[in-house]
Amino acid sequence: MKFKKNILCIGAGYVGGPTMAMIAWKCPSYKVTVVDINPSKIVQWNSDNIPIYEPGLYEIVKATRGKNLFFSTDIDKGIRESEIIFVSVNTPTKTFGAGAGMAADLQYWEKTARQIRNSAESPKIIVEKSTLPVRTALAMERILTSPDSGITFDILSNPEFLAEGTAVNDLQNPDRVLIGSRETPGGLKAREALVEIYTHWVPKEKIITSDIWSTELSKLVANAFLAQRISSINSISVLCEKTEANITEVARAVGTDSRLGSRFLNASVGFGGSCFKKDILNLVYLCRYYGLDVVADYWEGVVRINEYQKERFVLNMLSTMFNTLAGKKICLFGFAFKANTGDTRESPAIYVARRLVEERAELVITDPRALANAETDLSDIKDRISFIEDPYRAAAGCDAIAVMTEWDLFSGLDFERIYTKMSKPCFIFDGRNILDHERLFEIGFNVFPLGKSALKHF
Ligand code: NAD
Ligand code: UGA
Repeated sequence: MKFKKNILCIGAGYVGGPTMAMIAWKCPSYKVTVVDINPSKIVQWNSDNIPIYEPGLYEIVKATRGKNLFFSTDIDKGIRESEIIFVSVNTPTKTFGAGAGMAADLQYWEKTARQIRNSAESPKIIVEKSTLPVRTALAMERILTSPDSGITFDILSNPEFLAEGTAVNDLQNPDRVLIGSRETPGGLKAREALVEIYTHWVPKEKIITSDIWSTELSKLVANAFLAQRISSINSISVLCEKTEANITEVARAVGTDSRLGSRFLNASVGFGGSCFKKDILNLVYLCRYYGLDVVADYWEGVVRINEYQKERFVLNMLSTMFNTLAGKKICLFGFAFKANTGDTRESPAIYVARRLVEERAELVITDPRALANAETDLSDIKDRISFIEDPYRAAAGCDAIAVMTEWDLFSGLDFERIYTKMSKPCFIFDGRNILDHERLFEIGFNVFPLGKSALKHF
């Protein structure tokens, strides 16, 4: 079959895989190829056991794979054969040298730019899908045109706003698609080519076009604002605990103001995920680079509150359980950074697990999707941890349960059955406020929600 256009995506991760599967599904006349340097990932994408768990994704991959969606390790061939190249490689926080712990590590990104330059034999539209510091497109342009081979490259910024666990729905019904370009004839033409792809399923009014620097920056700012809401509500959760106010009531009252909205106001043990922390730190680094220390301090506070919330959760467990956790058995309900994903990157559960082991507790971790990642994350301390998928077996013999992830399955459990098998007195620390606290108290648990008064039998 002759395709209208060939699209390539470099980076077959949490963004590259789902976004390209959606494009292939919605645009049958385009050939979409996804490449990666990691061959085992490509083998998985080509199998029945795709490398990420995302509700609804496998069905779309199955419907398109081998028709107009292909996964491959041949990056050079992909570059040569495609007119539009999305780049969605990882951009983690730098761990070395200048900016370590703050700035984005752009080595994977730059390697990709050089590979595109070396393999390209015809004009290309390059689409930044990864989240990048503002003005990265300029660096990309410079790499692609040094030396000048006469081939034109038009760079677009098209940041991705999907959230894990809801990626398919987010991609299918996005709040908006943002496309930034240079205001040159070439830039505007490239922008039109990308708009044309999205108009296959996204209403025109939801496709926002803008200049390239504002687009790059908007992605960092969107994540910073989302994370800031969580830190804001979490900062108030501690005040609620001191004053007998109830964080759910406060969030409800505040969220009904239509200027604020009710979403993203759930108090938690802390936000996790691969992006919030790294993107805020990237923003902080950019502000410091431009000498804007007051602005940098403001945004850094969002991360500081998140660290505080995780530590405060552990200290609350410690003081509640008579100031010693040594030898006690604690069951973590959930390890994924949020529900409906197996991803554990930056999960608050990693921090909590490590701190509890430091206090010499024994841990049992249960999670319907994330146990394999949990074992990898905690491999250095795994002699003190059991990983058990069945929550009833996991909680048996434990002194306490700590809810780390808001999986629906946890609120539907038979807690009477769980209670009878636990060591007494037994405690529940609900780091997501998903359980029926009154009921648990009636059963006999001592219940410690977030941002609400504890319910205790002594
Ligand atoms: P990921 O680690 O899951 O995937 C990145 C992939 O790129 C990996 O498979 C890696 O092997 C591959 N890669 C690295 N260098 C390569 C190279 N030179 N050539 C070919 N492949 C290469 O990362 P992700 O979660 O998909 O995130 C990618 C980008 O998207 C990041 O900038 C992130 O901030 C952004 N983002 C992520 C999400 C999310 O929900 N995870 C959402 C929006 C934006
Ligand atoms: C987030 C953004 O929501 C996406 O728009 C963005 O594209 C993505 O980051 C990215 O750039 O990587 P994601 O991290 O997948 O998506 O998931 P979220 O739903 O945003 O949750 C992030 C964390 O905040 C989770 O740990 C979640 O449990 C926590 N959270 C969320 C709360 O603690 N309270 C809330 O009210 C909402």
